[in-house]
Amino acid sequence: MATKVLPAARNLTLGIDFGTSNSAAAVVDSAGVLQVIPLDGVRSEMPTAVFFASETHNVLFGSEAMQAYLNGSEGRLLRSLKSLLGSRLMDEYTSVNDQAMRFYDIVVLFFKELRRRCEAHLGQPVTCAVLGRPVHFVDDDAARDVLAQETLGRAAAEAGFTSTAFQLEPIAAALDYEQRVSRQTTALVVDIGGGTSDFTVICLNPAHSALADRSADILSTTGVHIGGTDFDRLLDLSTVMPLLGYKHIGTGNRPVPNSVFFELSTWHLIHQSYTRKALHFAKELWTDFTDQRLHRRLMDALEGQHGHRMLSHVEAAKISCSVSGQAALIDLDFLGHRGSEHLGATISARSMGEALQQALAQVVQCAQLCVQRSGLTAVDAVYLTGGSSALRPLIEALRTAMPGVTLIEGNRFGGVAAGLAYTGAARSM
Ligand SMILES: Nc1ncnc2c1ncn2[C@@H]1O[C@H](COP(=O)(O)OP(=O)(O)OP(=O)(O)O)[C@@H](O)[C@H]1O
Ligand SMILES: [Mg+2]
Repeated sequence: MATKVLPAARNLTLGIDFGTSNSAAAVVDSAGVLQVIPLDGVRSEMPTAVFFASETHNVLFGSEAMQAYLNGSEGRLLRSLKSLLGSRLMDEYTSVNDQAMRFYDIVVLFFKELRRRCEAHLGQPVTCAVLGRPVHFVDDDAARDVLAQETLGRAAAEAGFTSTAFQLEPIAAALDYEQRVSRQTTALVVDIGGGTSDFTVICLNPAHSALADRSADILSTTGVHIGGTDFDRLLDLSTVMPLLGYKHIGTGNRPVPNSVFFELSTWHLIHQSYTRKALHFAKELWTDFTDQRLHRRLMDALEGQHGHRMLSHVEAAKISCSVSGQAALIDLDFLGHRGSEHLGATISARSMGEALQQALAQVVQCAQLCVQRSGLTAVDAVYLTGGSSALRPLIEALRTAMPGVTLIEGNRFGGVAAGLAYTGAARSM
């Protein structure tokens, strides 16, 4: 896709948005034109997913990885790798295709594939990159946050990006939005993705867009580690997990232990519930259940490694309910369907609002804090980007918190990568 012509950059610097759910890349080419790379077939956004197929030993990426897993191919799916940055898990080994690999090595593989696809599209090597980063990789832990950025930079370098710089994701989103404004505007840019919600209040000015240093125009940034993958977890816990025993009051009138349900509902922790030790622990839980049907379903989910499948169905229902406002069904018949029993759950606009209420309140609070810190009493516009910014109850909560403000629905998936490419171009001029 080619858009507005900018002053040409001397070096090709790729803007890389390594997202929790989707990744994207863009570059300002030698003619000064923004090129958003079609990373996944014709699509610019590529699911941040890696699938290790056990039979063929092939490693698949993006939507091919998702399809292989969802079609039932034997193997290991990894998603939400970004959520592991800054955690100890990054250096832990996991078993894929009969070999032990660190999660870090899997991030490197992903970056190598991303680079390969970009180079194939551009027809030339690319070694310089501006990497996006959320305002906080990790909430309230500066040391882990530094570690997360350092790990991301190291992984990109190991994949062949020998020169890297970082830019905050909401600033990148703002720079993309700036390409479309014709006069000076103050905006709250809201980027709600899969893992984080990031905000910036910025003074947009088309006359400044080629400047390398925009710090004078950036009035505030805030961020919180809540995003679409958390919404999926909360909806999974409120609709699907009770069918597997979550909150089941079992023997001795006690609720059954709940850690297994949290792991199964958290994209980046699902793999932990499939280890031999975790399976053994879950099996032994049968004595805690008075309703053995629930325990059997739990074991079906664990032994069949259906965690990502369940969450994918929950995510699809979330999106469908958000788009249509109508209740959406979650089909769970793959869980050891017995006799004529049909197993499923439903997400309605109301149940979604209830399950997400607290998380959405935190997101809105973080948005308000950003405006407060900017020193402005109001902004001219609120610009929405990131996949989860389409979530209906979130839009409603933002409208209620900021009455009268114009909400602009923006470039939901490619904006951050474009803004990172603009950053790269401005720096290399
Ligand atoms: N129409 C929709 N309504 C609600 N949520 C949606 C919709 N479309 C996509 N999503 C959610 O958006 C999220 C992905 O958004 P996006 O690709 O912007 O995230 P990301 O950039 O990968 O994450 P992050 O920036 O947090 O690292 C997913 O959680 C997905 O379920
Ligand atoms: Mg994002």
